[in-house]
Parts: sequence; C-alpha cells; structure tokens
Amino acid sequence: MKKSTANIFIIFGVTGDLTNRKLFPALNDLIKSKNLPKNTIIYGCGRKNLKNNVFKNLNPKISSSAKYIKLNPLETNDFKKLRTKIDINKDNFKKINIVFYLSTPPSAYQFIIKNLISYNFNKENNGFSRIVIEKPFGEDQNSSKRLNKILKDGFKENQIYRIDHYLGKETVQNILVSRFSNLVFKALWNNNFISYVEITAAEKIGIERRGEYYESAGAIKDMFQNHLLELLCLTAMEEPKENSSESIRDEKIKVLQKIKSIDYKAHIIRGQYTRSENSKKTYKGYRDNEGVDKRSKTETFFACKLFIENERWKDIPFFIRTGKRLPTKVTEIVVNFKRNHNVFSDKNQNNVLIFRIQPDEGLLVKFNLKKPGDKTELLNKNLEFHYKKLGKDIISNAYETLILDVFNGNTMLFSRSDFVEKAWEIVDPIVKSIKTKNSKLYAYKAGSWGPRKADDIFRNENTWRYPCKNLVEDGETCEL
Ligand code: BG6
Repeated sequence: MKKSTANIFIIFGVTGDLTNRKLFPALNDLIKSKNLPKNTIIYGCGRKNLKNNVFKNLNPKISSSAKYIKLNPLETNDFKKLRTKIDINKDNFKKINIVFYLSTPPSAYQFIIKNLISYNFNKENNGFSRIVIEKPFGEDQNSSKRLNKILKDGFKENQIYRIDHYLGKETVQNILVSRFSNLVFKALWNNNFISYVEITAAEKIGIERRGEYYESAGAIKDMFQNHLLELLCLTAMEEPKENSSESIRDEKIKVLQKIKSIDYKAHIIRGQYTRSENSKKTYKGYRDNEGVDKRSKTETFFACKLFIENERWKDIPFFIRTGKRLPTKVTEIVVNFKRNHNVFSDKNQNNVLIFRIQPDEGLLVKFNLKKPGDKTELLNKNLEFHYKKLGKDIISNAYETLILDVFNGNTMLFSRSDFVEKAWEIVDPIVKSIKTKNSKLYAYKAGSWGPRKADDIFRNENTWRYPCKNLVEDGETCEL
C-alpha cells in the first residue's frame, strides 16, 4: 500500500560550506525536536563525482535514505534525470511535496531555476513545490529584478522563499512583539522621545575561506543590504494591520521607501582590517587572505548615518555599523531616548533600551532612581532580561525555524521580491559613489572596533555603545 506523502528536500550545492555549517545542523535539530515532517527524503546535488560520503554529518535517521545526484546546473539533461529519480517515488507515495534549496554560488541560480521550470518542477499538481534561495539575491537592483523575473516566470510568490537568516532568529522575531505589545515602548516610539538609534552587527571572525566571494561583496552587500536593512525596518516600521506575512511585509517596505538619500561624504565610513598581533594571537590582514587582491579596496567595516523621512522619525538619526574582525561577536539594536528635564536632578541620564539579538540574547533598559541617603543624586541602573533564564537551548537555530516554515508554507520570515529590489535601490548609489568618487577606505587593526573615523558621524554629540559579550557590560575595556 502506498504511504500518504513524501517530503523531498533537494539541496543544490550539497558539498558547499553552507550546507555543512547551517543546513545539516538545522535538519538534525529538526529531527531532535521531532519537527521534521514524516517521510522526509534528502537529495543532495553537486557537480562532482562523489568520493566521500557527503551526508556523514547528517543524522543517520535521514542520512540512510539520502541520495547524492551528480548534476551540473547548465546541463538540461541532468534535470531530466532528476525528474526521473523524483518520479520513482510515485510508486510508494500518494502525494509528493518538494522543496528545492539553492545553496550554490549565485551565478548558478538562473540556470537551476530555468531548468526546474522546463521540467515542470514548479507545478503543484499533487503536492507542493517550493523554492528557497540563499542570499545574495542578485548583485544590484537590475540583477535582482532579472532573477525575480526568471523565478516568477514559473513560480508564484507564495512558492518562493528568499532567505535572510536574521529573520529566523528568535530575538529578531521578538522586536515587533516587544515593540507593539508593551505600551511603555509603543507610546514612546517616535521623535518626541527617541534621540537616536544604533544598530550594530559586529563579528569577531574574519572572512574565513570566502575571499573570492567577499571581494565582490564587501560589508555593504554582505550585511547591510540584507540583514541590517531588515533590522532597521523592524525597528522603524508602523504597526502592521494584522499579524500576517503580507501586512508585515507591507509595512517593512514603507520604511525602505522613506529612507532619505544618504550623504555619501559625511555619513559613510568604510574600513578594512589590517594585520595585528597581541601576546596571545596574530591575526592576518584582510589582504593576506586567499582570493583577495593584495591592493584590495573592499570594505570589511561599514558604518553609516541615515534618516527616515516620515512623521515618526523626522530628524532622528539611525547609526548602523557592521564589521569583520571586531573585538567580539555581537548584534544589537540600541534605542537612545532623549534626556528629560525634571525637578529632581539635572544629572539624570537618558533611558536606553537594548534589543540584544546575539549572544546573551535579551533586553535591557537603563533607568534612573534616587540614590539612597541622598536628596539630589541619582543612580542609573539596569533592568534586564536574559533568554537563557527561560531554559537551556530555548533559542532555536534560525535555519531550523526557517526550514520548518518552508515545509509549513509560512512566508512571513522571508523577503518579498519588492523588499529585495528596494534594498538594492538604497545600496546601488552607495556602491556607485564609492567607485566613482574614489571614497576613502580607512585601515583598522584586526581586533579593534573599526576605524576611529566611525565616531565622526556622530559629530561629537554622542558615540557608539561599545558592547561586550554580556548584555549588561559595555565599554572599550570590558572583558570580550
Ligand atoms: C551571512 C554573511 O549572511 O551572515 C556572513 O554572509 C556573516 O559574512 C553572517 O558572517 C553572520 O550571521 P550570524 O548569524 O553569524 O550573525
């Protein structure tokens, strides 16, 4: 007797770095949490003849039925063979759902998509057909439009899942919930009360073995065009009409539409890390990596100041920064409130709210209270929440969440076509201005907080928070 449904998960680029670092661990976690749909069968596609077992890091519960398929994205005939191999499952299952996961170099995307469409893999006659695409989605607005067009020639928008793995992070999903479900935040979320917002995505690692890719991307295309603009939208958007994928996506895009064109000269700082050594370790410079030009001008650090031209955010600066080989890995959104004048003290500090995305995931509010035994002095203290207090392993891996959402048909945590195109529209002029105006690139020592120049965009009025590994600590000298 035939079983009811097969869930086929086809990974293009199965021998690649992402598959081993992110996809296999996520699939293993889904098995552990018993959330992987029944009868999931993995097909891994790669160009090479296989020497090793590519599925060795996959849980034996699924690796035993996993199959490797030698496939060249340019070879139409290979897709014909793939069709035959998938169709064999019709003998055992009544219904066949298929997820295509594109984890190859982006240059192969268009060939894979076109070939899938020509062999009718996009058709949903007996089970769903969904396609997942890793970033970068194009390399500028034109190429992202072309890619969207190729996709939409065969797939409907609700079959397409453009991955931005930041959206799968539990703490990123919490931004909207905390903002809108707490009146203490919601009521103050505007330019009457907020003075400026900082968004930081710092990484301790360098570019690892991704020299060739990173040379063409740099921090702007690798992090700012996607993860950081997503975080910006979640921080700045209006309340969605309902908790639905389309409502939230509609509000996010409105933020991008209102970003004022960035002052490239005064409000953008680019940096590149150079070799550094301390008593414990030596870090090589960016240019010493394989695949990187010895005179490379690619930025590994990017900071900018931007404004959103709407009633809520008029004149409120957003400071955004990201970089490789900074002192610690930390992602956070820091909302700095205005100082308020009051009769009790003129020394009160401003309130600060921090959404700590990772690590030591949590929320922190800095607030003032009376210093005991003193009539005029204030203390500035922390109210804090750490997710780890809810239990060990409470924060699931972003890819685990996202893969499950693909199986469940939930597109909320994926980028819609208009978002990706609009995000490129913001980034394209920055990239162009860098090329044509020969913009400056500042050196910074690996392990430091990036070029000192990055403080200049604050015009001495304020400065970045220098976060530490632990949410409650900050400052340049804290333990990293
Ligand atoms: C990826 C970038 O999208 O995000 C990498 O390509 C970066 O360069 C990574 O290291 C950061 O992700 P996370 O989840 O480790 O913050």
